[in-house]
Amino acid sequence: MTSEPAADVAALDVPGPRDPSLLLAATAERLGRGAAAHVTSGPLRVGVDLGTATMVVVVLDAEGAPVWVDSVAAQAVRDGVVVDFHGAARAVRTLRERAGSDLGRPLPAAACAAPPGVPAADARACVHVCEAAGFDDVTLTDEVSAAQRVLGVRDGVVVDVGGGSTGVGVFRAGELVALDDRPGGGHHVDLVLAGGLGIGIEDAERLKREDPSTALPVVVPAVERVAESVRLMTLGAQDLPVHLVGGGLMLPGAAAVVGRWLDRPVHGYPHALLVTPVGIARSAP
Ligand SMILES: Nc1ncnc2c1ncn2[C@@H]1O[C@H](COP(=O)(O)OP(=O)(O)OP(=O)(O)O)[C@@H](O)[C@H]1O
Ligand SMILES: [Mg+2]
Repeated sequence: MTSEPAADVAALDVPGPRDPSLLLAATAERLGRGAAAHVTSGPLRVGVDLGTATMVVVVLDAEGAPVWVDSVAAQAVRDGVVVDFHGAARAVRTLRERAGSDLGRPLPAAACAAPPGVPAADARACVHVCEAAGFDDVTLTDEVSAAQRVLGVRDGVVVDVGGGSTGVGVFRAGELVALDDRPGGGHHVDLVLAGGLGIGIEDAERLKREDPSTALPVVVPAVERVAESVRLMTLGAQDLPVHLVGGGLMLPGAAAVVGRWLDRPVHGYPHALLVTPVGIARSAP
């Protein structure tokens, strides 16, 4: 796995660190630790990521620095589709109220995102969840464009492997030219690990995090399955490097497996599961 910024990173018209690794490290440092000691007096930007595995809220200050970050585990969204509206709204409201109270500021606006392939009506559901959670002004973006707002890839394929699905966006000259997503992600990795070792799903999830070097050899077929689905979704873009984000393949060595399968450079990122949430916050009004 490589963690250097890609050579073709474009200038972004958003405030905050240009180097994704610095921004992601600062975000990870804030996770679950309340408000930053220094918050600029300007407007705050709030990103809400409704994931299959976790809901994440990121608050950036006017300089683009992460000043509040937290997440809750929730089963209210499946692959971008809100399956438990009230559960989702409750989880987001909890995070919004905690953020507002820690920061001592009202948070009237937010951005949220849906995976690329989700029909417009389902994508709008995330806006309604945020409104039900108390945000008055909600902007909708797609997850791949959000990730791009952190990575600034000019020519490359952004791949977001979540818990349940894999989204891809092909960027050429900084423009999004193709967008797709398919089922398959971290949950499928857990299923293969559980089956391979004869253990339960929860034990597989724990083992994957705590002992990734034992897990990786067992889950190579699941990682290759995600890689094959990326190959099929990017048939016209074999010339472009892949930027791997999301938590689904956050195992050391998984990016290299994907690189071998696709026979092209694959950039991994530390704290890969925070890329999309930070990018959503960067999309906020
Ligand atoms: N430390 C870790 N090591 C390995 N895998 C991890 C780690 N933390 C989270 N994951 C995996 O990341 C996945 C969740 O990733 P992410 O938060 O990007 O998904 P999501 O946004 O909730 O899902 P989706 O995008 O499919 O709706 C889970 O499958 C989980 O097992
Ligand atoms: Mg996600």
